[in-house]
Amino acid sequence: MSFSRKIKIAPSILSADFASFGAECEAIEAQGADWVHVDVMDGHFVPNITFGPSTCAAIRPHIKTVMDVHLMIAPVDPFIEAFAEAGADIITAHVEAGPHIHRTLQAIRGAGCKVGVALNPGTDVDSVDYLLDMVDLICVMTVNPGFGGQKFIHSQIGKVERLRAMIGDRPIHIEIDGGITPQTAPLMARAGADVLVAGSAVFKGGSVSNPGVYGENIRAIRDAAG
Ligand code: DX5
Ligand code: ZN
Repeated sequence: MSFSRKIKIAPSILSADFASFGAECEAIEAQGADWVHVDVMDGHFVPNITFGPSTCAAIRPHIKTVMDVHLMIAPVDPFIEAFAEAGADIITAHVEAGPHIHRTLQAIRGAGCKVGVALNPGTDVDSVDYLLDMVDLICVMTVNPGFGGQKFIHSQIGKVERLRAMIGDRPIHIEIDGGITPQTAPLMARAGADVLVAGSAVFKGGSVSNPGVYGENIRAIRDAAG
């Protein structure tokens, strides 16, 4: 996958129909999704539980674009191989998930996946100072992780501007995760983000049997981002 800063929309299947994950992945890709964002939660690092490597393996054949796996789990290291085996293209770990993020990112690279690091809203960009040459993606949480449909945290706009300056011309994606709508998308695109994760704003009003709404919602976010 060659590097481009062109805006990409990555619907989060956290807001999809959990009984039809395969069909939902096919539907959002047919309706214009650039990546599929897969929110893994363990009920320990975040106060919610979703799914694990076996679900990722089950949906992998239904994803033609990029399976962007966001690990909201702690510890991370014991599970990296399993998510790589399941077919993750990108594995993103939280800098807050443990004391050895440098080693975790080395292990994700060693497992053959693209490397992402995620920052919760309260975590400063200086936490990735020594990681910039190890990552392909930095995910800025614009909600406190654990649930879809939360309100966008505007203080993160300044964080993205600082991050964009720190990155310079390194081939690192800035991904925004949480509360992305046609109203908030332009704020983050202008600040320097290029991957916009959206769960509720993509899936609301649509279904596998009415996927056209997904396309309308994706286009609304993309058009707003400019
Ligand atoms: C939250 C997840 C987000 C969330 C986004 O912990 O990481 O990806 O699903 O959902 P919306 O777009 O509904 O805020
Ligand atoms: Zn996510």
